[in-house]
Amino acid sequence: MWLRVLTVFLLFVAGVCSGLKVTVPSHTVHGIRGQALYLPVHYGFHTPASDIQIIWLFERPHTMPKYLLGSVNKSVVPDLEYQHKFTMMPPNASLLIYPLQFADEGNYIVKVNIQGNGTLSSSQKIQVTVDDPVMKPVVQSHPDSGAVEYVGNITLICQVKGGTRLVYQWRKNGKPVCINSSHSFSPQNNTLWIVPVTKEDIGNYSCLVSNPVSEMESDVIMPTIYYGPYGLQVNSDKGQKLGEVFTVDLGEAILFDCSADSYPPNTYSWIQRSDNTTYVIKHGPRLEVMSEKVAQKTADYVCCAYNNMTGRRDEARFTVVITSVGKCVKEQTFIKHKGLIALVSQMPVKKTT
Ligand SMILES: *[C@@H]1O[C@H](CO)[C@@H](O)[C@H](O)[C@H]1NC(C)=O
Ligand SMILES: *[C@@H]1O[C@H](CO)[C@@H](O)[C@H](O)[C@H]1NC(C)=O
Ligand SMILES: *[C@@H]1O[C@H](CO)[C@@H](O)[C@H](O)[C@H]1NC(C)=O
Ligand SMILES: *[C@@H]1O[C@H](CO)[C@@H](O)[C@H](O)[C@H]1NC(C)=O
Ligand SMILES: *[C@@H]1O[C@H](CO)[C@@H](O)[C@H](O)[C@H]1NC(C)=O
Ligand SMILES: *[C@@H]1O[C@H](CO)[C@@H](O)[C@H](O)[C@H]1NC(C)=O
Ligand SMILES: *[C@@H]1O[C@H](CO)[C@@H](O)[C@H](O)[C@H]1NC(C)=O
Ligand SMILES: *[C@@H]1O[C@H](CO)[C@@H](O)[C@H](O)[C@H]1NC(C)=O
Ligand SMILES: *[C@@H]1O[C@H](CO)[C@@H](O)[C@H](O)[C@H]1NC(C)=O
Repeated sequence: MWLRVLTVFLLFVAGVCSGLKVTVPSHTVHGIRGQALYLPVHYGFHTPASDIQIIWLFERPHTMPKYLLGSVNKSVVPDLEYQHKFTMMPPNASLLIYPLQFADEGNYIVKVNIQGNGTLSSSQKIQVTVDDPVMKPVVQSHPDSGAVEYVGNITLICQVKGGTRLVYQWRKNGKPVCINSSHSFSPQNNTLWIVPVTKEDIGNYSCLVSNPVSEMESDVIMPTIYYGPYGLQVNSDKGQKLGEVFTVDLGEAILFDCSADSYPPNTYSWIQRSDNTTYVIKHGPRLEVMSEKVAQKTADYVCCAYNNMTGRRDEARFTVVITSVGKCVKEQTFIKHKGLIALVSQMPVKKTT
């Protein structure tokens, strides 16, 4: 036991003090199948040497290391089984592997022995992985026709035709998509489920696929999400919000504009209510009211927005009040200040679904 510890200690000291140092720039090297892979090795020593011996061994997990090739000074002695695959130009200890195959994956051990005033020895291990590069992924959205928010779900599937050890990442507007109550991934991360879909899910989605040797991103896909109407508003052509009072000359038209956010665009209809009856007076986002044609001092209107995909509607009610009506234009001009006042107020919006 003590002898063993002592031996290890002496070997350690010898390795450090010998002046022989073998270094590799990287202990892990990722190669591409079919291509050449170069394993750079540097070594240096400070004693006079007669023989410089370099040995390359290959080991896979749970197997014995096997000899690939070795050299003394400038002459190489390959293992005949592998002589077409491995090249070394001693005293340069670097190894060239060509062509690289999946079977070449494993640990490569290089050992350098210097014969001089005694024998110096040092070794390094390099782990080699072999992969096929990633091909450009393609994203498919299901259902193709789109989904209604809070009702439908969207599944995005990332498909890649070639590549090994693929790692998938979903991106929305260039940023990684996180898992939350409505977003989940398949175990491989190649499928993104959005259950249920909401308006906030609208965006440019892409799939980024990478492996140790390459990385490819799909074209962006924008799933179709039907939503709304939201934020229904009625505005006048004077640019004043409803709820404000504004004057109108007799004969001047007031133009009302109804808008709400939705996809697909809403269809709009305008309803006038007089007495107990309501009737649709116009379809489309704009309504022109000729002040002189308003029969009463007050008139109630409703703008109704309907999204034919979500099946949801919203409406805004408002009342036009004309406080003074003169049929004579001259008189009208005269009383302009006190004027014809259209008092327009927006009543609480009632939502129906
Ligand atoms: C290696 O080279 C050294 C110095 O050039 C020489 O002394 C030695 O004999 C050579 N060894 C072999 C095996 O050729
Ligand atoms: C070993 O050879 C490669 C080219 O085959 C060269 O790039 C590298 O610099 C050489 N290394 C040394 C230590 O001479
Ligand atoms: C060889 O090693 C011995 C003991 O380690 C030392 O005394 C001697 O000087 C060395 N010779 C050379 C040429 O380095
Ligand atoms: C969306 O997914 C939920 C949960 O899996 C399911 O209950 C619902 O039927 C799906 N909706 C549609 C439109 O497929
Ligand atoms: C889940 O995360 C996505 C972005 O990763 C975000 O757009 C969405 O609003 C989030 N949903 C919830 C319910 O937090
Ligand atoms: C899937 O993605 C999540 C979050 O982006 C990540 O934590 C996880 O390691 C990924 N799983 C696989 C198998 O790549
Ligand atoms: C999505 O991409 C389209 C076209 O490339 C662009 O017009 C739009 O602004 C993008 N949307 C977001 C949320 O980045
Ligand atoms: C309107 O309806 C109410 C109750 O439904 C009724 O009492 C009233 O007489 C009706 N008015 C007119 C003008 O029809
Ligand atoms: C729904 O409305 C959109 C735009 O308003 C229109 O283009 C489409 O034809 C309508 N679809 C149906 C099924 O009515």
